[in-house]
Amino acid sequence: MNEELRQQLREWIEFYRELGVEEFYVRRSVLPQESAAPAPRAEDASAAPPAASAPSDVTRGMAPSVLPTLRAAGPELRALSLFEAPPAERRAGESLEDIRRDLGDCHRCRLAEGRKNIVFGEGNPRAELVFVGEGPGADEDEQGLPFVGRAGQLLNRMIQWIGMRREDVYICNVVKCRPPGNRTPLPDEIETCSPFLFRQLEAIRPRLICCLGAPAVRTVLGVKEGITKIRGRFYDYGSAQVLATVHPAYILRNPREEKLLREDFEKIRDFLAAARQKT
Ligand code: URA
Repeated sequence: MNEELRQQLREWIEFYRELGVEEFYVRRSVLPQESAAPAPRAEDASAAPPAASAPSDVTRGMAPSVLPTLRAAGPELRALSLFEAPPAERRAGESLEDIRRDLGDCHRCRLAEGRKNIVFGEGNPRAELVFVGEGPGADEDEQGLPFVGRAGQLLNRMIQWIGMRREDVYICNVVKCRPPGNRTPLPDEIETCSPFLFRQLEAIRPRLICCLGAPAVRTVLGVKEGITKIRGRFYDYGSAQVLATVHPAYILRNPREEKLLREDFEKIRDFLAAARQKT
């Protein structure tokens, strides 16, 4: 491993230490024997992964912003995965309750000023499927729960359509407080809040993370591409996979595009069915 890669690795580990993650695991099966690597695994072999570019302003300083660097760096660094812990250690990490407690009555950014309730997340703490949205809207702010408005009703329908129940999955957002007027969260708000999302993902360790819309997938994967380019493909996130799809609110505004959501949910259903068969 050359010095530049070593330095990137140090920074990555340091970042996670600051988040309170102390244990790291190496997936030995893919250490140096692996040759040039196909970085994010696309379901369609011909699909181009998002560019392994430098982190954008939106993603700089956040954990997944390291992921494109890791992809660019080669298999040695990509071999490191927070999800590679053996099952016994998997239970040793912090719980969602720990993370919620740490979030407290958060005033780390300006979004606290206009919120009624923090919307931490809801669902099965051991879910195999996690949905990540952008940020709470008015209904969510009112109730303190994610995706309970019209977009949430569509999400519920889609979850049922693939044979699951809302309580089987976990649902959360990139930012935990409603941005005023439902605007897109600003880069510094995402930077401040997203470590809590990453810790939630680490605590749950799902098989699949479904990002709803561009801000969610940009944050989780640390890329800056638009949703059109990324949606419908599978990408590595440790030992989990990430699939991005269009935000349900977009479908409410553009009902003719619902087939996009259905296509992607079929992929979710098929992926989980195949994963369950393997275990
Ligand atoms: N849109 C989101 O991105 N998240 C919610 O919780 C509700 C609507």
